[in-house]
Amino acid sequence: MNNFRKLLLTAAVFAAISACKNSSENNEEEQIQLHEETPTTQKNVQNEENVKFAEGKGIYTQYCVTCHQANGSGVPNLNPPLQETQYVLGDKERLIGIVLNGANEGLEVKGKTYSNSMPPFNYLKDEEIAAVLSYVRNNFGNEAEPVTAEEVKAVRENEE
Ligand code: HEC
Repeated sequence: MNNFRKLLLTAAVFAAISACKNSSENNEEEQIQLHEETPTTQKNVQNEENVKFAEGKGIYTQYCVTCHQANGSGVPNLNPPLQETQYVLGDKERLIGIVLNGANEGLEVKGKTYSNSMPPFNYLKDEEIAAVLSYVRNNFGNEAEPVTAEEVKAVRENEE
C-alpha cells in the first residue's frame, strides 16, 4: 500500500467512527426528549383549556374591552375594574346574573361607584358566557374556579 492509500483508509475509518458516535448521541437525546413529553391525556386537557382561554379572550375583546379595558382596569368613575373584585371572584350565580342582565344600580366595587351602565348579554350562548367569565376569573390577577356552561344554563333557567 502506498502512503496516499493508507491516509485515505485512516480517514475513512475515522469518519466511520465519528458517524457512529454522533448517531448514538442523537439517539440518546431523542430518548430524553421523549421522556420529557407530557403524557397525551394531560396534553389534551391542557389544549382544551388553552382553546377555552383563547375563546374567552376573543369574547372579552369583542364585548367587554371597550368598557373594562384590556387589562381589566375599567375607566375611573365610568366602568369598574375586574381585577380581584368581590363580584368577579365571589358567588358565580351573582356574576353570571350581571353578565346576563347587565347592571345599572351603582354597584359598589372596591369602595367606589360608577356612573355608566352595563348592557345585558343574554344573547350570548351559555358556552360563550362561561368562556368569557372563566377568562376574567383567571386573568387580571384573578385566580378562581372557571364557570361552566351548565352553571350559566341553570342561572338562565332560574330567572325565567
Ligand atoms: C358599556 C360598558 C360595559 C360593557 C360593554 C361591559 N360592562 Fe361590565 N360593567 C359596566 C359597568 C358600568 C358596571 C357597573 C354597573 C353598576 O354599577 O350597576 C359593570 C359591572 C361589571 C361587573 C361587576 C362589577 C365588577 O367590576 O366586578 C362585572 C363582573 C362585569 N361588569 C363584567 C363584564 C363582562 C364580562 C363584560 C363583557 C361580556 C362586560 N362587563 C361588559 C360596564 C360595562
